[in-house]
Amino acid sequence: ALAQETVRIGLILPMTGPSASTGREIEAAARLYMQQNGATVAGKTIELIVKDDTGVADVTKRLAQELVVKDKVAVLAGFGLTPLAAAVAPISTQAKVPQVIMAAATAATTEASPFIVRTSFTLPQVTVPLADWAAQNGIKTVVTLVSDYGPGLDAQKAFAERFGKAGGTVTEQLQVPLKNPDFAPFLQRVADAKPDAVFVFVPSGFGAIFMKQFVERGLDKSGIRLIATGDVTDDEQLDRIGDVALGTITTHHYSAAHDSPENKAFVAAFLAANNGLRPNFMAVGGYDGMHLIYEALKKTGGATDGQGLLDAMKGMSWTSVRGPISIDPDTRDIVQNVYVRKVEQKDGALYNVEFATIEAVKDPVKAAK
Ligand code: DHB
Repeated sequence: ALAQETVRIGLILPMTGPSASTGREIEAAARLYMQQNGATVAGKTIELIVKDDTGVADVTKRLAQELVVKDKVAVLAGFGLTPLAAAVAPISTQAKVPQVIMAAATAATTEASPFIVRTSFTLPQVTVPLADWAAQNGIKTVVTLVSDYGPGLDAQKAFAERFGKAGGTVTEQLQVPLKNPDFAPFLQRVADAKPDAVFVFVPSGFGAIFMKQFVERGLDKSGIRLIATGDVTDDEQLDRIGDVALGTITTHHYSAAHDSPENKAFVAAFLAANNGLRPNFMAVGGYDGMHLIYEALKKTGGATDGQGLLDAMKGMSWTSVRGPISIDPDTRDIVQNVYVRKVEQKDGALYNVEFATIEAVKDPVKAAK
């Protein structure tokens, strides 16, 4: 018999460096998806090629070029940080290869190539509901503190605009360098400004160091409330952060504690396959990204031409472990529920426990255009 044709998926991730947890989570989720769903789709053998870009954009770009030219991948996927996704956009455009963004979350990134599709989230998408929550819960003044690059600047802007419209005031906007961040001087500014709350975004994997410095500066005892996107109370780090996180209000699209049969099965399988590593929102972006690729291949009957795959992805909807999601056919960005959560003890560990849901949220930046 003829050997089955192979469809290659190039998965480029930061497997080393400061965002290594993102790479580890997404790779584990992609492998779990394949283990659960098999390596044959529409009569083709799926081969996953994982590459470590170390979190450096020039490396991401070179790896993407090699994957397209030498390995003839049908899909490029992964992209742990915004600059890494952006570096590949010209390649996906030129080669007409779908670029599935499983992690990066700056709103504008999807506009960098018509071949980009996103299964993660956008910072404005998760930040607007938090500004609403703050305004509705007695918070009148806020200092914002974000990592100084795309997603942080998105979060800062979305928070200030929405909170301002709701009658609140952002009194100061602080940006902390992304690389080797020292939060101490910025936290001192927050302490001196004495706002009702400090709103924080740092990328996945940086929450623990932020919280450590938050405590060292005495901010936990200052009476200033901490509110954040769920990146800060990342499931991969939350239990190590410890009790200081208790009570923190965050908004995000995924919690490992999300109460659905799909998620319970996913978390149990992920923990079992990864020595107890808890899946975080990055893992879910990877798991759903693989689902999107598999389902697109089913729709095309295994055909791998880039435009055909892209068209198959547009408008697709399914029940994710995070809740119902779809790919907006106009923007190629994800539409999903955003949850308001509180850090609580549950079954002897810390979790982001969801207590309110805003349904079917589109990226507000693109929705306003
Ligand atoms: C990005 C990276 C993250 O780890 C995160 O939690 C959110 C956004 C980014 O670079 O886009």
